[in-house]
Formats: sequence, structure tokens, C-alpha cells
Amino acid sequence: VTAIWAKAGAERYAVRVEKFDVAAVQAIDASGVMLISDENVWNAHGSEFRGLGPCCIVPPGEKSKCVAQWERCLEWLAGQGADRRSLVLAVGGGVVGDLAGFVAATYMRGIRWANVATSLLAQLDAAIGGKTGIDTAHGKNLVGAFHQPVAVWCNPEHLRSLPERHFRAAMAEAIKYGVALDAGFLNWQEEVRGRLTVGSPQLTRLIKTCVRLKTRIVAQDPMERSGRRALLNFGHTVGHALETALGYDELLHGEAVMVGMIAESEIAAQLGLGPKELPSRLRDLADSWELPHKIASARLISPMMEAMTRDKKGTGKRIAMTLPTEVGSCVLVPDVDAEAVQRVLRGI
Ligand SMILES: NC(=O)c1ccc[n+]([C@@H]2O[C@H](COP(=O)([O-])OP(=O)(O)OC[C@H]3O[C@@H](n4cnc5c(N)ncnc54)[C@H](O)[C@@H]3O)[C@@H](O)[C@H]2O)c1
Ligand SMILES: [Zn+2]
Repeated sequence: VTAIWAKAGAERYAVRVEKFDVAAVQAIDASGVMLISDENVWNAHGSEFRGLGPCCIVPPGEKSKCVAQWERCLEWLAGQGADRRSLVLAVGGGVVGDLAGFVAATYMRGIRWANVATSLLAQLDAAIGGKTGIDTAHGKNLVGAFHQPVAVWCNPEHLRSLPERHFRAAMAEAIKYGVALDAGFLNWQEEVRGRLTVGSPQLTRLIKTCVRLKTRIVAQDPMERSGRRALLNFGHTVGHALETALGYDELLHGEAVMVGMIAESEIAAQLGLGPKELPSRLRDLADSWELPHKIASARLISPMMEAMTRDKKGTGKRIAMTLPTEVGSCVLVPDVDAEAVQRVLRGI
């Protein structure tokens, strides 16, 4: 049994990239296990968890990361008689994890929770680091808390039922870890990309590598204060702007991040900061995962610029961005010229 240990301040928890173990949850000294899942995940995998306790099922999709579902889960917990020693068990992708984690963070001023991450995005990114929260009409993840889980399971077998498009989009985050933190990991992904299928040992290794890289960064900067954690934002400044301009239902997050990484690597190259060959390497990877590499319409550029300059990280006509200096290392550049950004967005 090989757990990867995540550390955040005084807290320590095991991330297990293997089959979920009912006995390990039962071994946690909780007064009861309260499950939260979504319809898709529960239909595909509910039988594995049914014996553990009652389950509150939310509709699938980002729309469930909302005040109404948060309230519904809290009232459900209270109605079930959950107490300070109850354990919330999230079973689902990033949406269920963020929502259930925030429910646990706020019920009785915070109770313990554990996470069975069932989407590739959750397994290699969202389930680690203790960021929990919900969206409001004014923005994504506007309300939330840092609340670390007590245990995380990432079973690659759960991905058999994950829709293909979600699987491919999550690969953008794996590519991100390579560019931002580990050149060897990016090379390896290029080598084995044809073999990265569900059930393959390569996929298990990919998830473990991402978990290790993310736990390392989280340990260095658990509360997102030192700037270390910002290195994981490569591709995300432009990616988020694209999601905002499109209204969040056209592209999946990973798809927008793929476009964002190509744009930001192009910006870095043009500033003379980053490697010249990186944009074309990223385009090849995008092609092999059938991910987009351009902004679908020039009309999106002006709302994207607006989103980026309003971004709380940017001041005036300057935009803060995590840019690669070489493959495997990035820096947070606080003041990228907005004109230069716009030029690249028109060109890609
Ligand atoms: N907390 C963090 O640090 C962090 C990091 C990155 C992203 N996120 C958040 O994660 C969310 C996106 O996560 P996501 O992509 O997992 O979305 P998601 O949870 O909506 O899952 C994607 C879709 O796949 C379905 N699904 C998940 N696992 C499945 C399985 N094994 N079988 C069949 N269907 C399955 C879901 O029902 C959903 O329809 C966003 O809200 C984002 O803000 C959080
Ligand atoms: Zn992301």
C-alpha cells in the first residue's frame, strides 16, 4: 500500500491512488458517515458505498456548487442528526469535492471530511490541497474555506465510467504540471501519450506524479500566501478569461486551460522569457488529446481582456501571469503588458 502524504500546516493526510477501502473509512473514529455525491457518480458507483451511511445526491454539474445545494446539504446533515464527530464522505468529481468540503467546513464550525475523487481532474488536482467552496452569481469559487480532508482516494478504475471528453480535458492539467514543475514529466507524457488509457499502468503513474507534485507545492504554501501555489496557475489567467467570456458552458475547464497554456507560452516566448519551442510542443499535445488550441472567435478577445484586467491580481493595464522560463519552471510575472497579451490572443 503506497500512500502519498499530503501536508498542509499541522495537518497530514494520505492520498491513496488505489482501490477505495471501505474498512479504512470505518476505521476512522466517527459517529457516522454522511455521503455526498452526484447523480452520475452515484448511478455508476453508488453500490460500492451504499453500506457506509446515508447519501445526499446533488444534480451533476457546476451548477450544484451553489448556495442552494450547500444549504440543502447542511439541512440534510442536521436532519440526519449529524454531530461534531460525523464524517462527511464526498464521492465525485471536483464539483462534489468542493461542495461537500465546504459543507464539512461550515457544519458545526467544521467537521471532518474525506474525499473519493472519481473524475480525472479531481484525482490529479482538485482533491488535493483543501480548497473548498461554491460559486455565486458574481463569480466562481467566490465563497469558500481552506479545509483539508482527513483522507483522499483516487481509484483509476473509477475513471472507466467517466465521459471521454472529461478525461481528455483533464490531461491539460497533467501537461500543466510538466511545464510548470517537471520537464522530465512533460517528456514522459509525450512518449507514452498513446498508452495513457483507462486501466493502464501509465495512467496510474500519471495520477501519482501529479498528486506528488501538487502535494509538494501545497506543503510549501498551504494557504496560498507565499506565491508558490500560484505556479500551478500556468495557463489559467488566459484560460479563466476564456471561460468567463464564453460563460462556462461551452468549454470544459481543461479545454480552456489548454488554450490558455498555448497563449501564455507564446506570450513568454515573445517576451524573450520562455522557450521558443514550447508553444508548438503544446499544440502537438493538444492535438493528441483532441483539445482546442485556439480561441474560437475573435469576438471573444475583448471580453477576455476585460476579464483579465479586472482580475484582482492585475492592476490597470498590467496583467499578472504565471509564465514558463524554461520547461519545468515558471515564475509569477506581476505586470505583463496588456497590449502584448492582446497581440498574442489575436495571433494564436
Ligand atoms: N479545490 C480545488 O483545488 C480545485 C482545483 C481544480 C478544480 N476545482 C473545481 O473542480 C470542478 C470541476 O471538477 P470536475 O471536472 O471533476 O467536474 P465534475 O465534478 O462536474 O465532474 C465532471 C462530470 O463527470 C461526472 N463524473 C465524475 N466522475 C465520474 C465517474 N467516475 N463516472 C461517471 N461520471 C463521472 C460528473 O457527474 C460530471 O458530470 C470545478 O468546480 C472547479 O472549480 C477545484
Ligand atoms: Zn485548473
